[in-house]
Amino acid sequence: MSKFPLTLGRFLAENQASYRGAGDGFPSLITQVGLVGKVIAQDLRRAGLLDIQGTTGDTNVQGETVKKLDAIANDAFVNAFQHSGSVCALASEEMEQPIVLPGNWPQGRYILLFDPLDGSSNTDNNMPLGAIFSVIKHDRTDRLPTDDELIRRGTEQVAAGYLLYGSSTMLVYTVGQGVYGFTLDPGIGEYVLSHERMTIPEKGKVYSTNEGNYNKWPAGTKKYLDSLKVIDKATGRPYSTRYTGCLVADVHRLLLGGGIYLYPGETDKPEGKLRLLYEANPLAFVVEQAGGKASTGTSRIMEVENPRNCTSEYR
Ligand code: AHG
Ligand code: MN
Ligand code: MN
Repeated sequence: MSKFPLTLGRFLAENQASYRGAGDGFPSLITQVGLVGKVIAQDLRRAGLLDIQGTTGDTNVQGETVKKLDAIANDAFVNAFQHSGSVCALASEEMEQPIVLPGNWPQGRYILLFDPLDGSSNTDNNMPLGAIFSVIKHDRTDRLPTDDELIRRGTEQVAAGYLLYGSSTMLVYTVGQGVYGFTLDPGIGEYVLSHERMTIPEKGKVYSTNEGNYNKWPAGTKKYLDSLKVIDKATGRPYSTRYTGCLVADVHRLLLGGGIYLYPGETDKPEGKLRLLYEANPLAFVVEQAGGKASTGTSRIMEVENPRNCTSEYR
């Protein structure tokens, strides 16, 4: 007989200590993220039957083609949060400008930065997709945040996590006190604790990268990758390759099984592809809280000194 489910709501009510660092508004915020996950997961289950595949015909601020599902997922986050009373500002990979809520709307002290749909190249082929979120705080009560105040170092995050739309839907988060994973039970419409205190195994056997770009990588990166393929039983090599093209899914696999994900800088793209505020910082927070390391190659991702210096494309 299956255990009586420990739902997200019950878990938060019974374990205030597990999120206190993020503040009292956290349960409401994470519940809204979960709601977005339920709405999008429901669409994805029938994606081929609805008019939600393909592109909108637009190009986003990153210069990438916008998929219909990018826009749908972005709208879901905005709709869930703009009147929620949890946040005072929202910024997304898919929006040219952040939304700073008008002063007469319900306000919360959190600022939510998000990648509404991660792995967009998978939208039309039933491969995994995700969403990534990063939470910072606006501590002033006398005024709303300026756009510049939305751009902070990763170490200032009070919470972060992701939604994973795979064979099941998951919500994974950290507030800096370990990593908790919940699986959506479609039968009861609730997230149920399934992965308590996720911890990356000491040793993994998988590397995850778009190796098609190998010839654009710096010599040191090539050498490192080559080393993973050396046949050496004693050190558990060669590693295996697994790459879904969805960062959330690839990182989730590493959280469970160990290994390495890399998106290296390239000759024509020296900062790599991943966006610091919407992808790298939040997942770095999760990875570190699960006992792993997240590096730019030379330093800790969450300590990238001044994200405002990044070209907007890589924020
Ligand atoms: P997004 O769909 O939000 O634009 O992110 C795609 C990212 C990430 O999910 C993935 O790891 C990487 O881009 C895939 O890029 P390649 O297609 O270049 O491998
Ligand atoms: Mn992404
Ligand atoms: Mn995206």
